[in-house]
Amino acid sequence: MAETSKIQAQIEELRRLIRRHEYLYYVLDRPEISDAEFDKLYQKLTRLEEAHPELITPDSPTQRVGGQPVEGFAQVQHKVAMLSLDNAYNTDEVREFEARLKRVLPGERFTYVAEPKVDGLSVALLYEQGRLVRGATRGDGRYGEEITQNLMKVRSIPHRLHGPLAAFKALEVRGEIFMWRQAFAKLNRTLEEEGEEPFANPRNAAAGSVRQKDPRITAARPLDIFLYGVSYAEPDRFTSHWKAMEQLHDSGFRIDTKGEKGTLERYRRRCPDVEAAIKACLEIEATREKLGCDCDGVVVKVDSIEQQRRLGSTTHHPRWAIAYKFPAQQATTVIKKIEISVGRTGALTPTALLDPVEIAGATISRATLHNADEIERLDIREGDTVLIERAGDVIPHILRVILDKRPARTRHFSFPTRCPVCGAEAFRPEGEVVSRCTNSACPARLKQSLLHFGSRRAMDIEHLGEAVVEQLVDRGLVKEFADLYRLDVATLAGLERLAEKSATNLYNAIWGSKERGFRRLLFALGIRYVGEHVAAILAQHYGSMERLERAPEEELAEIHGIGPRIAESVALYFRQQENRRQIDALQKAGVSMREEGVTAGPRPLAGKVFVLTGGLEGLSRDEAKELIIRQGGRVTSSVSKKTDYVVVGKDPGSKYDDAKRLGVPTLDEPAFKKLLSRM
Ligand code: IVH
Repeated sequence: MAETSKIQAQIEELRRLIRRHEYLYYVLDRPEISDAEFDKLYQKLTRLEEAHPELITPDSPTQRVGGQPVEGFAQVQHKVAMLSLDNAYNTDEVREFEARLKRVLPGERFTYVAEPKVDGLSVALLYEQGRLVRGATRGDGRYGEEITQNLMKVRSIPHRLHGPLAAFKALEVRGEIFMWRQAFAKLNRTLEEEGEEPFANPRNAAAGSVRQKDPRITAARPLDIFLYGVSYAEPDRFTSHWKAMEQLHDSGFRIDTKGEKGTLERYRRRCPDVEAAIKACLEIEATREKLGCDCDGVVVKVDSIEQQRRLGSTTHHPRWAIAYKFPAQQATTVIKKIEISVGRTGALTPTALLDPVEIAGATISRATLHNADEIERLDIREGDTVLIERAGDVIPHILRVILDKRPARTRHFSFPTRCPVCGAEAFRPEGEVVSRCTNSACPARLKQSLLHFGSRRAMDIEHLGEAVVEQLVDRGLVKEFADLYRLDVATLAGLERLAEKSATNLYNAIWGSKERGFRRLLFALGIRYVGEHVAAILAQHYGSMERLERAPEEELAEIHGIGPRIAESVALYFRQQENRRQIDALQKAGVSMREEGVTAGPRPLAGKVFVLTGGLEGLSRDEAKELIIRQGGRVTSSVSKKTDYVVVGKDPGSKYDDAKRLGVPTLDEPAFKKLLSRM
């Protein structure tokens, strides 16, 4: 009997763990273990319960589908319960799936459809007479959250169906809301630029975006849907899954500009028998990295709807489908060091530097640790061996510490309370997870701010890379944005690893950036919550810095697309004397503060390309370059057909010959000076 009670205890413990992880996954959108680890727990419990059916209780997680709706959204009852899927971890388990089918329906033949199992958030869409009337999350499988307004913002979901399906009294379709990896990466970059927390992975981003209280936020998120089934149809006319999906696509789902089906749908295959289905599983697995989104398996489904009906479901999953799960992309390695970096907003971000390890073809040497709480929660220490997982392109994260391998003398990692770069106090507001350096002049923050200022989508200062910024700040040459415009070619040429030619290019680029205009400048300043999109709205509305600076907070909040949080942040920014002073300095340096962006003063050499060769008498080479650039011209180092003038001094080099060969006009020193003084 002791044996049974031991098993009973084991079962209880597994149920407790599963419930906890279901809660973290479905309700909080904050899973702590990977799907594969969760599946393992679930399988273990299922096996134990199978061996001891007398221990099954109605409240066991195996007897229902996980999750419960969060508060805040109206609850809706699904037409048909949204179940989970049974899993297969190898091809033999797919063959066993068919053997089970044959036991339930002896003597019958089965054809299948194999399609990607997309890792996102499942939703149900209800159409009545072709109109989208309701959209809901899965919730606990029977009751979900009503999120119709939000789902209407997903561009690939039609509000109205066309063709024969439009006449259906009711049609409930199911699909997975997800984010393409590229779109996810871009979203995270934007969030970071706006000083917001990025998402850990595309699944969390999709779930977080679709469950926003404000549908306008959902609308701005790059969401997509992958349809995978019809759960209810009146009239009940579908005979095959394959055909049902085809008809759905013909009625308005995911028709892209070329009139083709979406990219993912092309991987859906019709399979005449189980071996063909297995082949499809392996083929999709082999192209896993190329799908462009997170996909954790292949779902194999019996194609005939009539057979599906006769096969039926357990309380947990349909008997007519199985998910062939890909092996998890995991590995174990050692944490060499925990590094804290300081971002533009002062956020202290921890990263684990790892002993390089290969996962699915990529060498991984860093993993994100998110924040202090995460390190605490997992009790991660330098020297620890950890299990890491790579989910797509996303920087890998640590699942857990392997305690058995913890070396003897490790120390609990205490998150710094001071900025590791400048030593100022780090502040973590109540209820927030991020600590920030409180020193606005912190060199680490300044460096990041300058990199952002010069980034392609901001002031677009080419060649203003990390190595240059590092030196400019460390040597005290740049203490604020405006200092960039005071640099001369000679100073830049004095930086390490910056050859004469690169110094000129950088000088060109800095001067060229004065003309970028108000919208880009506003984004470049790095005001909290002012990303590219918000900067465009503000620039459009106010037209100049002068007018924006004076705008009262209430007025800002009324602009469409701005809202109170952004308005507060912008108003706060301009209330600070130091920020105003810095903007003044930029203006004095000649940086355009208007949208059309034409600086005062003549620019007679605008668009002209110069090459200098030989020595000039009255001017140094650098001075000559500066004069050209200040009048709108550019200086390059080699002659091509695009060169407008070659300035030829004493003892010219081969560039003179190039000019003659290509027929490019040449200027001697007097002619050059005359050209310069014409303005
Ligand atoms: S069929 C009745 N097909 O995976 C169950 N599900 O782990 C029908 N999923 O809840 C599910 N891609 O959210 C099906 N091609 C696909 C899928 C898919 C992703 C999700 C779905 C489901 C979960 C089960």
